[in-house]
Amino acid sequence: MQDHKRRVFSGIQPSGNLHLGNYVGALKNWVAMQNEYENYFCIVDLHAITVPQDPKVLRQKIREVAAIYLASGLDPERCVIFRQSKVSEHAELCWLLNCVARFGELQRMTQFKDKAQKGGADVASAGLFDYPVLMAADILLYNAHLVPVGEDQRQHLELSRVLARRFNNLYGETFVVPEAIILDTGARVMALDAPEEKMSKSSPRPASFVSILDEPDTIRKKIRRAKTDSGSEITASPDKPAITNLLDIYAAMSGRKVSEIEADYEGKGYGDLKKDLAEVVVEGMAPVRDRAYELLDDPAELDSLLDLGADKAREAAQLTLHDARARLGLD
Ligand code: TYM
Repeated sequence: MQDHKRRVFSGIQPSGNLHLGNYVGALKNWVAMQNEYENYFCIVDLHAITVPQDPKVLRQKIREVAAIYLASGLDPERCVIFRQSKVSEHAELCWLLNCVARFGELQRMTQFKDKAQKGGADVASAGLFDYPVLMAADILLYNAHLVPVGEDQRQHLELSRVLARRFNNLYGETFVVPEAIILDTGARVMALDAPEEKMSKSSPRPASFVSILDEPDTIRKKIRRAKTDSGSEITASPDKPAITNLLDIYAAMSGRKVSEIEADYEGKGYGDLKKDLAEVVVEGMAPVRDRAYELLDDPAELDSLLDLGADKAREAAQLTLHDARARLGLD
């Protein structure tokens, strides 16, 4: 890897089922960008445990995410692929940043407010509250310039920028101030059965998401049953949230513009759109699914790839952490 390349960092939580939103909002863009940058792609297992997890399932999900990263086309020669919990510098930098982050700004994070509201704020873990600071630590530890994410991470990215600038102002230039990369299409895929809700890994309703590991016929069925809007015209507009979502998925999976797709479907019905969209999604997902299952057949190989990644990540992380400690007067 060459030193002059700018750095990219991003991550996915190994919880629930990775879905179409994770694929087009994040993974697909990481793959497209990987040649241009020095890349760090993390499996953020410490973030996953901010809500209770079954240890057996978590262990399996970690490998599943690793397999999906590779199956989607991330090349371990060009990307450092690793687990967050295997590089303890993440947790240590998180503590240092906790001491510059403010209680008030964490309280204003909408994802915390939403999640805490669902389960009751009093019983939400302190880890859930601190989640965005750990995320800032992930990014700042690698002095990443660019962070490709979906729309739901915009506020967390803004906090990472605030913390980097605040630390730099207080203690001297230490961290790169990162930038979010959020694309126009596919950055906010909505639930298939409720287009006013985000497609979510933690949804209890399988009909709401297409999992990256769903079989082709399951994908076809879910898209056929996706909610539609009243009327019959195939156009993206605020009064047609369901069709807008289907067009957005179509555009993100095919690399075409929404306006071109709208033109193709002039005079056609919702059924035609769904039928073709299902094939576009199956065509994109089936090879990822097949390859991921092949990789999962050899868990020892996946584990050793992750350990190798952690060794590489640790080297970069130690340099930044040492810098931050020295600035604070700890080294
Ligand atoms: P997570 O695991 O919830 O989601 C992983 C990535 O998928 C994107 N995403 C979506 N994009 C489009 N439509 C959707 N419905 C959708 N749902 C999720 C997310 O925006 C994300 O890019 N906090 C992060 C993980 C993280 C991280 C980081 C990301 C931890 N540290 C540092 C970047 C940099 C999260 O929970 O993502």
